[in-house]
Amino acid sequence: MSTSTSASQPATSSKTATLKLPGEEIELPIITGTEDEQAIDIQALRDQSGFITLDPGYSNTGACESKITFIDGEKGILRYRGYDIEDLAAKSTFVETALLLMYGELPAGETVTRFREKLTDQQLLHENMRNHFEGFPPHGHPMAMLSAMINACGCYHPELLDPDMDDQSLFHAAAILMSKVCTIAAFAYKMTSGQRVEYPDPSLSYCRNFLHMMFSKPHRRYEPTPQVVKALSRFLILHADHEQNCSTSTVRMVGSSRANVFASVSAGVCALWGPLHGGANMAVIEMLEQIHKGGESPKTIVEKVKQKKFRLMGFGHRVYKNFDPRAKILEQTARDLLATKSEPDPLLDIAHELAEIALTDDYFLQRKLYPNVDFYSGIILRAIGIPVSMFTVMFSIGRIPGWIAHWYELYHDPQRRICRPRQIYTGPRRREFVPVDERRTAAPKVC
Ligand code: ACO
Repeated sequence: MSTSTSASQPATSSKTATLKLPGEEIELPIITGTEDEQAIDIQALRDQSGFITLDPGYSNTGACESKITFIDGEKGILRYRGYDIEDLAAKSTFVETALLLMYGELPAGETVTRFREKLTDQQLLHENMRNHFEGFPPHGHPMAMLSAMINACGCYHPELLDPDMDDQSLFHAAAILMSKVCTIAAFAYKMTSGQRVEYPDPSLSYCRNFLHMMFSKPHRRYEPTPQVVKALSRFLILHADHEQNCSTSTVRMVGSSRANVFASVSAGVCALWGPLHGGANMAVIEMLEQIHKGGESPKTIVEKVKQKKFRLMGFGHRVYKNFDPRAKILEQTARDLLATKSEPDPLLDIAHELAEIALTDDYFLQRKLYPNVDFYSGIILRAIGIPVSMFTVMFSIGRIPGWIAHWYELYHDPQRRICRPRQIYTGPRRREFVPVDERRTAAPKVC
């Protein structure tokens, strides 16, 4: 297996841009990607001129060249390694998609079989690792446990702490991370809900085994419907990568210091936790439940949004400014899954009504605010029976292959340097130090 793909080429540079600065002009190379997206290469700017660029939130900053995922936010396109997300969601499995992301090509059948066997081999946690769970308080957040346990995995695999990895050791590390993360997540859920843990079942597929560890009980084995398995697999595929988002950039940032793959991925889990990123799927359900219980109409909510009194969770995206293709697929998946349930979900009705009003309202149209992937993923997870506190953990399970792929790509990037952004300092200029008993200025009110 190789990490290079025949269908991709390095970014090219034949044109230049001229930057006019006070008293001078500077020529900067223009870089063009395989899908014709353009960038001005400013690597030499500070050396040539003393200027840096300022871009809080990095909306206009390309931190790297990458061959993994392509997004066209205006057209609502998402591709992994050149394959449309719609095709992968309909025709691929999560395990196959993971191999595609990590190695660059759709894997041959025997590679998938070998990787599945390796995933099965890695399902169990070292018994000492099980004891770590006892150290967490009973209501500790499962995202905190997940991040800590992923980092702890590194202690049990010292041979994989060296960032000098080849394709074979990556195969091993990926199987450990992808497999153990399911066991850790399910154990965290069982322990925080006061239930006996269910050990993995090597006879089951990736998704079925996870559902078994989550929902089987000593007296009743859980048998998911095919629709539940399909919805989970689709959820994981759609969350598997999303180029340089907050958590993936965190993984790359940590990896740039040559930190090992466990430490880097564990940092990605922490970054994903926030409600503006992976935590949004939880926030959506909490918001819909609040609307449902409070009895406010979706119209009133939309008015509150316009008055800036309410942020509609699951709406808006830094990159998608037309529609989020993942939201489209998951909306249909949510409908299919709920059609198999005897009880309709009132939250789905509220979600649809909110989306319909918002999608025809000028406030939303002008700001290009559309439902994002989290708007429907929460409804799917709820229908599967996943508790809200585990939603962001589910997102993490899906994102593991993407984080590993980016960590590995960074490691092989000849342009790799430690990530170290600069800043524009706006604090006080140099001041004379005054000893404590001579100070007359009011101290900050901290006590
Ligand atoms: N509800 C209401 N108004 C919004 C929303 C929203 N969800 N998102 C953006 N806006 C408004 C802002 O108030 C702002 O209006 P203004 O121009 O009148 O000031 C305008 O749209 C632009 O918003 P920004 O905050 O500048 O957009 P940004 O690109 O920085 O933020 C983000 C993107 C964080 C996703 C934002 O849309 C948001 O908070 N959404 C809700 C949380 C969410 O769903 N996050 C999941 C993202 S997907 C993912 O991570 C998997």
